[in-house]
Amino acid sequence: MSLLKKILSSQVGRSCSLTKILLLSYPCLFVYFFLHIETLKKLDTYAAYRTLRRDKTVIGDTNLGPTIHFSRETEMFHMNDFFAITSKKLTISTIRFFDGIRFKNISTPKEKTIITNLKNPLLTLFTTWLESKDKYTVHNLTSVNWLSLRPLIIPVVFTNETSLAEECSQKGWRVLPVRATAAQGAPVLKYMYLDVMKRFDSNFYAFANSDILFTDKLVETLSDILKNDSSFKGHTLIIGKRTNVDNLTKSEGSSLSALESVSKKRGKSFGTYAEDYFITSASYPWKDIPDIVIGRRAYDNWLVLNARRMKHRVLDASETILAVHQTTKAGNFEGWKHQGTNYNHKLLVKLYKKVPYTAGYTDCAEFVTRKDKIKISITRRLKLAKHCNLL
Ligand SMILES: *[C@@H]1O[C@H](CO)[C@@H](O)[C@H](O)[C@H]1NC(C)=O
Ligand SMILES: *[C@@H]1O[C@H](CO)[C@@H](O)[C@H](O)[C@H]1NC(C)=O
Ligand SMILES: *[C@@H]1O[C@H](CO)[C@@H](O)[C@H](O)[C@H]1NC(C)=O
Ligand SMILES: *[C@@H]1O[C@H](CO)[C@@H](O)[C@H](O)[C@H]1NC(C)=O
Ligand SMILES: *[C@@H]1O[C@H](CO)[C@@H](O)[C@H](O)[C@H]1NC(C)=O
Repeated sequence: MSLLKKILSSQVGRSCSLTKILLLSYPCLFVYFFLHIETLKKLDTYAAYRTLRRDKTVIGDTNLGPTIHFSRETEMFHMNDFFAITSKKLTISTIRFFDGIRFKNISTPKEKTIITNLKNPLLTLFTTWLESKDKYTVHNLTSVNWLSLRPLIIPVVFTNETSLAEECSQKGWRVLPVRATAAQGAPVLKYMYLDVMKRFDSNFYAFANSDILFTDKLVETLSDILKNDSSFKGHTLIIGKRTNVDNLTKSEGSSLSALESVSKKRGKSFGTYAEDYFITSASYPWKDIPDIVIGRRAYDNWLVLNARRMKHRVLDASETILAVHQTTKAGNFEGWKHQGTNYNHKLLVKLYKKVPYTAGYTDCAEFVTRKDKIKISITRRLKLAKHCNLL
């Protein structure tokens, strides 16, 4: 106290010298960092952040030391404007934390900051593909894109190809073997879900086709759904329309902001009949789903209409999740060209007789996600079209 008085009185009494100003600023800086460290200490696992202003560099030289622990991942993943955990070096006033189950406000000089504190990652996102020269760029972009959403999202590839497994795990993907196939080699969907559910802890699990890219809107949407769901006990299926982008280039696809702007510029919203990702809640009863395979027609619409029949909550997230389909020469209807193309349909007709596929279009989901100024909320769709009748 007396030291401070001395400094202050000397400050007032004489003309200030550079040394004194520096002396005075050290305790202030110390208190400033201490407050931040104390708040950050309480965060134990997962968080994500992004710059509020895209022209700003967030990696500053503010060394907050080893007190920021994100226990499972220590790396720093970033793509231009989106950062998912975790650096010891960051400038807090320029970042925004996504909002998880619990969050805190940290007041900073310039920006409001929201912090997430999720015990588990948000989503285990898995896919599968066969190595192919034609599709190398597509799969490479997918691999970079999904990795950039770590560690809130765990990217998993199912493959029995040794070289692909090695390449992916070197990049940071998790790799699991394909347990079961049917229809001339197509992986059976349910076993992949059951395998990832056994292997990884997360709040959601999803299959997505290997040519689909996402942005941080996926993270935002799922965070906000989770927050709403603290008392929701049922099963949830989240699907949505995709946006086709022809001949996506490496530079367009390798940053989340570039991806967002290219899809605004040259993206085309695809039909409501196509579903390329299926996000389900952790408790979803995959064990009761028949042995339908991916990459062959009919399984996607059936999954949605089955969820509706079973009275699960089906959410159409087309408005809040950007799912970019990398359209190449092979076009938009690849599932139809393989062998065993009717496998799913035959299986489903045998089991259920009537399969009104149109009732499984995205616009038949009873709920939709909408974004207002602050958050993403879930609202009930007022009226379903005639083709949505379950019969
Ligand atoms: C965060 O701060 C804003 C005002 O800056 C306030 O309106 C909001 O309610 C706060 N949120 C929480 C969870 O405290
Ligand atoms: C594949 O992705 C890596 C990043 O993971 C990149 O360094 C490499 O250049 C890409 N290769 C091709 C052929 O696009
Ligand atoms: C893939 O490998 C696993 C063992 O690692 C084996 O059990 C499984 O049958 C293989 N799948 C296919 C489709 O060959
Ligand atoms: C994409 O590339 C193919 C050739 O590789 C070309 O035929 C097609 O016109 C291109 N599409 C667009 C939209 O540029
Ligand atoms: C939460 O979800 C329910 C549907 O399960 C919905 O009716 C309600 O409006 C949602 N609330 C918010 C804030 O999104």
